[in-house]
Amino acid sequence: MSKVIAVQNLCKTYQIKDYTNEVLRNVNFEMDYGEFVAIMGPSGSGKSTLLYTVSGMDKMTSGSVSFDGRDLGAMDKKELSKLRLLEMGFIFQQMYMMKKLCILDNIILPGYQSGRNRNEVNSRAEMLMQRLNIAETAKREINEVSGGQLQRACLCRALINEPKVIFADEPTGALNSRAASDVMRELSAANREGTGILMVTHSAKVAAQSDRVIYIVDGGIQGQLVLSRLANEEQLGIREQMLNRWLIEKGW
Ligand SMILES: Nc1ncnc2c1ncn2[C@@H]1O[C@H](COP(=O)(O)OP(=O)(O)O)[C@@H](O)[C@H]1O
Ligand SMILES: [Mg+2]
Repeated sequence: MSKVIAVQNLCKTYQIKDYTNEVLRNVNFEMDYGEFVAIMGPSGSGKSTLLYTVSGMDKMTSGSVSFDGRDLGAMDKKELSKLRLLEMGFIFQQMYMMKKLCILDNIILPGYQSGRNRNEVNSRAEMLMQRLNIAETAKREINEVSGGQLQRACLCRALINEPKVIFADEPTGALNSRAASDVMRELSAANREGTGILMVTHSAKVAAQSDRVIYIVDGGIQGQLVLSRLANEEQLGIREQMLNRWLIEKGW
């Protein structure tokens, strides 16, 4: 089994009164284990909806999604939430941290829920917070930290259970450049250690770090650009230029 994600003829339709909004139209793609795939496309083209349906957070209208060889359509709500807890990580723009818990408790909660050894969860949380420069925020309430710190805490939480795939929706979109590069550095590190990444981004600079870019327009895949594995940082500028040329061709 070589693909961590396989999406076939995925459609998602929102019905609002007598208006039908076909948000995803016959999307087909596969993702390898450990692959870093960036999703780009105009605003409203269905990128977020794609992440939600592929991760089982939102129900598809038709088609199929398999994750690690298992058919999401055949799972009930409980099985889906277990799959998300144990095998997927999420970083979305509007983060859902628990307001009553401090930063550290938010990060370790999914680790405890997974039934892992609590000491191991605690030390992994500590290690991740140090790597992301937010160790000092451990005991703070979530409204006592900056947006950048909160986003980095979300990344720690997403990584706590060593997921097979991280789903990220514009994770650096609202961050200053320092916080954005912390987040990208840590995502790249997780990726090098084998975590797959499916990430929506508006930044060609960020997407230039991926293995492959998928371009979505009006809920359909309009093209893909294979960049291959990033071997060294010096390639980044050239890849970004190449990607920008390709994006302009696509009407970006
Ligand atoms: N919960 C929802 N109910 C109805 N329409 C929705 C919902 N979520 C998204 N849409 C519609 O789906 C389309 C794509 O949205 P989205 O996936 O957020 O696009 P993107 O992330 O590419 O900007 C938009 O037309 C949006 O209005
Ligand atoms: Mg979006």
